[in-house]
Amino acid sequence: MWRIIVLWIVIMGLVTSDMISYEGYKVFSIYPSIDRQLKLLELSTKQYSSWFWKQPNELDEEVQVMIPPNHLQSFYEIVHITNTRFELKINNVQKLINNTISQNQSQGFDFQSYHILEEIYEYLEELAKKYPNKVQVVVGGKTYEGRQIKGVKIINHENSPGIFIEGGIYAREWISPATVMYILHQLLTSTNSKVKFVADYYNWFIFPIFNPDGYAFTFNKTHGDRLWRKSRKPFSPNCIGANLNRNWDFRWNTSGVSNNPCSDTYPGNEAFSEIEMKTMSEYIKSVNDQLYAYIAFHSYGQLLMIPYGYTNAHIFNYDHLHNISLKGINALRQKYNTVYKTGCIGELFTNLPSGLSVDYMASVLNKSVVYLYKLRDKSEYGFLLPPEQIIPTGEETLDSLVAMFNELYQLDYAKNN
Ligand SMILES: *[C@@H]1O[C@H](CO)[C@@H](O)[C@H](O)[C@H]1NC(C)=O
Ligand SMILES: *[C@@H]1O[C@H](CO)[C@@H](O)[C@H](O)[C@H]1NC(C)=O
Ligand SMILES: *[C@@H]1O[C@H](CO)[C@@H](O)[C@H](O)[C@H]1NC(C)=O
Ligand SMILES: *[C@@H]1O[C@H](CO)[C@@H](O)[C@H](O)[C@H]1NC(C)=O
Ligand SMILES: *[C@@H]1O[C@H](CO)[C@@H](O)[C@H](O)[C@H]1NC(C)=O
Ligand SMILES: *[C@@H]1O[C@H](CO)[C@@H](O)[C@H](O)[C@H]1NC(C)=O
Repeated sequence: MWRIIVLWIVIMGLVTSDMISYEGYKVFSIYPSIDRQLKLLELSTKQYSSWFWKQPNELDEEVQVMIPPNHLQSFYEIVHITNTRFELKINNVQKLINNTISQNQSQGFDFQSYHILEEIYEYLEELAKKYPNKVQVVVGGKTYEGRQIKGVKIINHENSPGIFIEGGIYAREWISPATVMYILHQLLTSTNSKVKFVADYYNWFIFPIFNPDGYAFTFNKTHGDRLWRKSRKPFSPNCIGANLNRNWDFRWNTSGVSNNPCSDTYPGNEAFSEIEMKTMSEYIKSVNDQLYAYIAFHSYGQLLMIPYGYTNAHIFNYDHLHNISLKGINALRQKYNTVYKTGCIGELFTNLPSGLSVDYMASVLNKSVVYLYKLRDKSEYGFLLPPEQIIPTGEETLDSLVAMFNELYQLDYAKNN
C-alpha cells in the first residue's frame, strides 16, 4: 500500500511556477471502484491538487487527472498495479489550449472567441455608452496587482428586485465570463418576449470577472499559465494565490480546504485575506437591500447547485429552490439536449467545500434565491471548452435563467395577489 502511495505521489511531480507549455500532457478519467483506489486518489489530491481537474468524490464517480509526459510511464504502472479503471480523455492538453486562443486579431467584441480582460471591460463601457439610461459601469472591487473589478448595473425600476451575477472567480474557467457576457448582451438586445420580460422586470448587477489578476495570468503568453485557478498574491516564496471561492467569511477554513499554500484549495491565511473578495463583499453588502438573488457561474460538470457547500444538510428553502432549479435544467436541456444535474453542493461534493461566496450570500446576507452553475462540459474538454461552444452554452444557460426567474416571478405574484 505505502509503496503505491509513494509511487503515486512521485508521479504527480512538483508544480513549478514558470510552466507555460502543456505540450504532451494528458488528461485521464479514472473510475475508482473500491475504497482503496478512492483513498489513494484522495491522498494524492492533498499534495498535488492542481493536477486534479475533477476531484475524487464517491466510488464509481469519474475523477479527472492531468499527467505530465515524463510521468506517464509511472501513471500507467500505478493504475495497473491498483487495477483501477481509466480512460484517456485528452491526448495533448496544449493542443486544446491552442484551440481556445484566438489566432486572429479581434475585430471588436464577439461571442466566437474568448476575450482578454481589457476587451471585456471595454465592451462594458461600450454598452454603457449605447444604453446610457439603463446601463452603468461600476467598479465593485480591486485586486492584489492593482486591477479593477468592473461590472455593470442595469436599473430598470428603482425598487425592482435585483439579480447579482458572479463570473470568473476561477481564472481558467473562461466559459464563465464568456457566458456571463453573452447573457448580459441578450438581456439588452433580445427580442424574445420571455427574455425581455425577465430582462426588464428585474434589476441586474453583473460582474463577469471576480478574479481579474488570475484571468489576465491565464492569457499571459510570456509568464502565464492557462490552467491557473487562484488569486495572484504570494503566500510563500513558491506558493502563489488563495482559492477565492474558499475565502469568504462564513464557515471559513472548516472543511474541503487545504492548509498548504501551494494547493489549489488553499483558503488564504484568514477569511477575506484576498482583497478581491474583501472589496467585492463590501460592495455587495452596500447594495444588499436591492438584491433578490445571487447566481455564480463556474465550469465544468453541468451542475446547477443549491447552497450549502459546507454541509450536506439542506438549506431552509431547499425544496423551493430545488423545484425552481428543476425547471431551470429542464429549460436548459431543450435546445441542445445538454443534461444537467441539480442538488445541494454539499451532497454533490462530499468533501464539503467551505468559505464559498454562495454560502455567504445565503447565510450572512440572507439571500433566499442563490445558485451556483457549473457550465459545460461533462469531461470531454473540461476547462478548455472550444470557443465554438460559447454561443450554445450562452443560449441554453440563458434559457434556464429565464425559466427560473419567470417561475419565481409567477410564484411571488401568486403569493402577493
Ligand atoms: C500550440 O501553439 C504553439 C504556438 O503557436 C505551437 O508552437 C505549438 O506547436 C502548438 N501545439 C500544438 C499541440 O498544437
Ligand atoms: C480568423 O480569420 C480567418 C480568415 O479571415 C477566418 O476564416 C476565421 O474564421 C477566423 N477565425 C476566428 C476564430 O475568428
Ligand atoms: C505578463 O506578465 C509579465 C510579468 O508579470 C508582465 O510584465 C507582462 O506585462 C504581462 N503581459 C501581458 C500581455 O499582460
Ligand atoms: C485552518 O484550519 C486548520 C484545521 O483546523 C488549522 O490547523 C489551521 O491553523 C487553520 N488555518 C488558519 C490560517 O487559521
Ligand atoms: C415543489 O413541487 C412539488 C411538486 O410540484 C410540490 O408538491 C411542492 O409543494 C413544491 N414545494 C415547494 C416548497 O415549493
Ligand atoms: C440575516 O438574518 C439574521 C438572522 O435573522 C440577522 O441576524 C442578520 O442581521 C441578517 N443579515 C442581514 C444582512 O440582513
